[in-house]
Amino acid sequence: MSSLLFTGWTGYIGSHTVVEFQQAGYEIIVIDDGSNSSPDIIDQITQITGKAPVFYKGSIADITLLNTIFEKHPIDAVVHFAGFKAVGESCQNIASYHVNNVSGTVTLLGAMRAHGVKKIIFSSSATVYDANMTPPWNESAHENTTNPYGTTKLVIEKLIRDYVHHAGWQAIILRYFNPIWAHSSGIIWEYPRGVPNNLMPYLLQVISGERAELQVFGDDYPTADGSGVRDYIHVTDLARGHLRAYQYIQGNNHDSLYEVFNLWTGKGTSVLEMIAMTQSILGRDIPYRIVPRRPGDIAMMYADPTKAEKILWWRAEKTIEEAIRDGLHFIWAL
Ligand code: WQD
Repeated sequence: MSSLLFTGWTGYIGSHTVVEFQQAGYEIIVIDDGSNSSPDIIDQITQITGKAPVFYKGSIADITLLNTIFEKHPIDAVVHFAGFKAVGESCQNIASYHVNNVSGTVTLLGAMRAHGVKKIIFSSSATVYDANMTPPWNESAHENTTNPYGTTKLVIEKLIRDYVHHAGWQAIILRYFNPIWAHSSGIIWEYPRGVPNNLMPYLLQVISGERAELQVFGDDYPTADGSGVRDYIHVTDLARGHLRAYQYIQGNNHDSLYEVFNLWTGKGTSVLEMIAMTQSILGRDIPYRIVPRRPGDIAMMYADPTKAEKILWWRAEKTIEEAIRDGLHFIWAL
């Protein structure tokens, strides 16, 4: 039976996606340099699925390791997550983002070509869209990156498209932004290193008592309640979108394919709404304080998921409330 190779699988979205593919019966080979992951992730995934993925520790820039993997395993497709992913950090460490994310992918794509692997699903990002556009954004919206992280995602999309046009590959690009919360088992979640940048992990750490209070970055945006609005999607819904994308490629009879899909709910939720919903479910107040806006943030960000619904037969199924319950279950706050 052919296998799939997951790169960067030990991260938040990658690990949840491995679970969905394993539970759908696929053989999973994984490669990760371990730079941003929990050391327990293999045991945790095995605890959920009952099966450990075949794990190679290393970088996608290591051509010798990639050749070993492709020679040893009948890889049908690559699901590509590996890459640094912090917007703010990328503005400081520009070259390391370019080398790690883009150069590493160049090596990966070359190794795929050398071994006849012609299917890829790429974890891209909504940071490729022009943030000045009025939401909801669809897949043909104007692209314009404002940070090196987003630039690496856009460049990689175009590199992959070259292989589709000139080597007959089948590729699906998945763009998303705000994955949240945890697998319903409460066994795996996001493991932010240091102080979380993102809203949800920080909110959970305030609830668990690890942090004193949540800072709400601005309540003077042109939104209903003044706080920032985002399209939060349960990480398991996002993982299932990758599974549908692979199944779509498997069912595709064309020689080559290049499709971009937004994986979003299509609904925006504000920071203050998220706090209110969480407090209601939790049954107690969450300490927070309104502070000035965070540099680089924008007021509203959500997209149109129609294309994925129509072509991939995928839509986000978990409600925000269900997502919050899964997150609170993870820290046993419920
Ligand atoms: C969400 C909202 C903040 C923290 C996303 C992804 C990120 C990357 C870039 C990769 C905003 C507010 C946050 C806090 C707050 N995506 N906030 N207090 O900024 O949409 O970034 O795009 O492809 O991984 O998360 O997500 O969670 O940082 O912020 O008030 O302590 O929460 O202002 O309105 P963001 P976020």
